[in-house]
Amino acid sequence: MSDNDIKKGLAGVVADVTAISKVNPETNSLLYRGYPVQELAATQPFEAVAYLLWHGELPTASELADFRATERANRALAPEVKAAIDALPIDSHPMDEVRTAVSVIGAIETAGIGNVLDAVGTPEQNLERSLKLFAVLPAIVSYGQRRRRGQRIVESRDDLDYAANFLWLTFGEEPDAVVVDAFNRSMILYAEHSFNASTFTARVITSTLSDLYSAVVGAIGALKGPLHGGANEAVMHIFDEIGTADGVKGWLDRALAEKRKIMGFGHRVYKRGDSRVPTMKAALDSLVQHYDRPDVAELYSTLEDEFVSRKGIYPNLDYPSGPAYNLIGYDTLTFTPLFIAARITGWTAHILEQQASNALIRPLSAYNGVDERHIQEYEPDT
Ligand code: SDX
Repeated sequence: MSDNDIKKGLAGVVADVTAISKVNPETNSLLYRGYPVQELAATQPFEAVAYLLWHGELPTASELADFRATERANRALAPEVKAAIDALPIDSHPMDEVRTAVSVIGAIETAGIGNVLDAVGTPEQNLERSLKLFAVLPAIVSYGQRRRRGQRIVESRDDLDYAANFLWLTFGEEPDAVVVDAFNRSMILYAEHSFNASTFTARVITSTLSDLYSAVVGAIGALKGPLHGGANEAVMHIFDEIGTADGVKGWLDRALAEKRKIMGFGHRVYKRGDSRVPTMKAALDSLVQHYDRPDVAELYSTLEDEFVSRKGIYPNLDYPSGPAYNLIGYDTLTFTPLFIAARITGWTAHILEQQASNALIRPLSAYNGVDERHIQEYEPDT
């Protein structure tokens, strides 16, 4: 086997087929079940996109009404889950809080299924599990932020759709339509992106016939990393480091001299810009106007122009999302948990797809260690 047979990071390797989304770097496009993501973000509530990813079609009006009723009925945070989060140190990372909460939910939901062969569940069970996680994640994420801020918990409101209720749960006030629209768009853009690291992690775990919750917990662990989902949090740390637009050049000189990765830029698949950025940038622009924060727009564009001109590396979705969530009022540490609340739809769609046509995922490795050797005093059994 020669070195160029080895695809480090599985770069460029097609590991399986999927009908859920199509990422096309040539045309810089992203389709969810055939629909361009820009069209979905501009016209659909996130609930309809979740339905599309799971069922392959957009819901009819009555299907959406039924879906919304089930989602609303499953928003509440169980006492056991609250207790598990409360048992964590107040300064635990929110990604660890959400990972713990999902793990507790999984243990409760699969309690009594003694035989590991039954843990995988039926497609119907896993569709229900997926929707229940989708419904409760806003309560988990918002509970974490309010706990850290010493604020009392807010209960869901059945008169609010998913995005508006998520904002209500977090801030305890009637969300503005502009903010709801920008937030809804961000959820749709973050929902799905083929075999990214966290989704592929979920598929690897699913391929062993392990359960959906174990696959989601593994995916959360993968998403936390700053090369992946953690980048949206890291973008805000960079903005805080730079301060204002006139600090960009000097900051970038130092960062590049230290060979730092500039978070929010670059992508394994898109090499001439991330197809989702224009739509999320438009959402950010609407928030900049709504909150009257031209300073954010100036810093954003100055850093983008400077880095692209120097390195020819373009922003990814995390670059506009970070400042957008900051303007809405989310703590920086809450940004990647928001990514979980969106990507739970893509992850679970891939879990269902993997289960429907499974093969254990187990690649090869090329050995480059020491040659075979033996224990001197070893005498083989005769
Ligand atoms: C997400 O896969 C997905 O679909 C993920 C995602 C999704 O929706 O699920 O799109 C979400 O994770 C987006 C990416 C978020 N991550 C970041 O913003 C972190 C910063 N980005 C880089 O770490 C990097 O761009 C990656 C990890 C995203 C992709 O890197 P690759 O494809 O492995 O390429 P590479 O790291 O080998 O970079 C190639 C060259 C290197 O230079 P050399 O060492 O060859 O001289 O480009 C440089 C890199 O140093 N480079 C960067 C850079 N990105 C690439 N240099 C500085 N800053 C960067 N951001």
